[in-house]
Amino acid sequence: MSTHATAGEHSSRPAVTLSTLQKMKKRGEKFTCLTAYDACFGQLLSEAGVEVTLIGDSLGMVLQGHDSTLPVSMEDMVYHISCVKRGNRGAFLIGDMPFMSYASETQTLENAARLMRAGAQMIKIEGGAWIARSTQLLAERGIPVCAHMGLTPQSINRIGGYHVQGRDPRQAESMLAEAGLLESSGASILLLECVPQTLARTITEALEIPVIGIGAGPDTDGQVMVLHDLLGISPITPKFVKNFLRDSRAGIRGALQDYVQAVKSGQFPAPEHCFD
Ligand code: KIV
Repeated sequence: MSTHATAGEHSSRPAVTLSTLQKMKKRGEKFTCLTAYDACFGQLLSEAGVEVTLIGDSLGMVLQGHDSTLPVSMEDMVYHISCVKRGNRGAFLIGDMPFMSYASETQTLENAARLMRAGAQMIKIEGGAWIARSTQLLAERGIPVCAHMGLTPQSINRIGGYHVQGRDPRQAESMLAEAGLLESSGASILLLECVPQTLARTITEALEIPVIGIGAGPDTDGQVMVLHDLLGISPITPKFVKNFLRDSRAGIRGALQDYVQAVKSGQFPAPEHCFD
């Protein structure tokens, strides 16, 4: 049966909330996340049935042409979140806190509030144990937090390259412990980037909060991909991405629906997209 005949069928679904995602995790139902940076794609993603739209600081690379996410500013994030919000039709919106925007407690609270006022429903911050305090401060004040662990692009100069994280057993053990700490500090979602699939599975099973993966194998509760990777227009193609536009029979809308269907049916990510 063609999945393309269903274009727009999700436009009238109830708005996705954090509790929708928690229930999906409990039921073992996979959910999807994609990045978007403007109103048009914000609308297309939500109408294709994508549950979560991430306004990611990846915009620094795919929109602005930088070679890292470090130059992205708070003004950039506020602008793109407000654009996506205007097009969105019920997806849950996560906004990225850019590099050095959560270096102190006051800065963290003020900047997170700016993103929430712009339309984010949750903010994402990168790091391990060191973001536990910020996570707690934000959660206590009603701002849901997505903690981003594994390969954290804002730390690229410390990490030394876009490498898989957690292959070393000691690093894997400390990532598991830090994920637990962030959950107990109030994180509502964990995002794992570029980690071996067995570690991602262990962390996903250990946590009660939903876990979203990118390059983290098929066993996380949700999957996320950068929109430009899905459309095959990014300058580089990491192992964990798939161009869904190439085989789409209904253009961009079809590619988005195929992604949703492939994640939900467990066809994506396939073994060739995963790390051991
Ligand atoms: O900024 C972003 O788009 C991200 C994804 C790669 C997960 O953080």
